[in-house]
Amino acid sequence: MNRWRVIIDTDPGVDDAAAILLALASSEIELLGISVVAGNVGLEASVRNACKLVAVARRPDVPVYAGAARPLVRDQVFGKYANVGAFSDALVPATDVRPRQLSSVRFIADKAREAAASGHKITICAIGPQTNIALALLLHPDVAAGIEQIVVMGGAFSALGHRTAWSEYNVHADPHAADIVWNSGVPLVLFPLDVTMQALFSEEDFRGFEARGGLPGKCLARLLRAYDRSDIARYGRPGGPIHDAMTVAWLVRPELFQGQMTAIGVTVDGPTAGHTWADFYGRSHHAANAMVMKTANEAGFRQLLVERIANLGANITPAGENAA
Ligand code: RIB
Ligand code: CA
Repeated sequence: MNRWRVIIDTDPGVDDAAAILLALASSEIELLGISVVAGNVGLEASVRNACKLVAVARRPDVPVYAGAARPLVRDQVFGKYANVGAFSDALVPATDVRPRQLSSVRFIADKAREAAASGHKITICAIGPQTNIALALLLHPDVAAGIEQIVVMGGAFSALGHRTAWSEYNVHADPHAADIVWNSGVPLVLFPLDVTMQALFSEEDFRGFEARGGLPGKCLARLLRAYDRSDIARYGRPGGPIHDAMTVAWLVRPELFQGQMTAIGVTVDGPTAGHTWADFYGRSHHAANAMVMKTANEAGFRQLLVERIANLGANITPAGENAA
């Protein structure tokens, strides 16, 4: 089986946690490493969260790298739950796993160069502010040749923004980085809020994670309960989205999603910085630069995540942790 060779660039983050665990649970993916960026929370907390996640999945072999502590140009804005910082030990057990010395940007550049030389290109799942990836492309332009695709959770087109009325958080947090990545010429697959909000996870799913997923499943359920993502006013029904996990689910079960090749862009400054547009009707002179996902099979996505977390964690029940 051809496996995707994947780097996850992330700002964990609860939905990032689901994406990372899903990648670790999926034999279709060779997870080369996790590059961390400040976003939901500060860089130090994000790195600690990533280390906890590979540890709870019993995969300390998957290297974690620290990247950008702040956006390229704009002032820093953290996520909705920034006050929480690192996942508490009560939510995800403490670990002695530590990040590697190399920076995220060098890690991305090194892996992309190796891929260009070998012909086995890499996929980047960009599920936080795209600062690390923009820096890698800016500082080492040759690395684009080693990247097969960047699968981005970001943007809002027909959906309203959620961090501001006009912007989705990952783009809002670093619009200049998104602009660099989206105009790099590297093939893009985009999961905007328009599609990530079509799949809402609720208590039924959380019970599935904790009943079948061992300690990793229990930790994921704890995180999803601790950081409530539901919004009845917005969604009209119970449950909340797990935005980032869709990027990994697409690699594993692409048939769950449908999209359209489209020109996309982002406003980088001024009063609507972070606004994103998609030319679905071909009205602009811009060439299509992204496969923008528009529909998701909610039931299939929810079932995939519960089943894969079960596969990952069913036998992970260390002493001292009641995984029942
Ligand atoms: O807008 C949702 C995105 O912002 C997700 O990646 C979430 O983790 C936050 O980074
Ligand atoms: Ca994220």
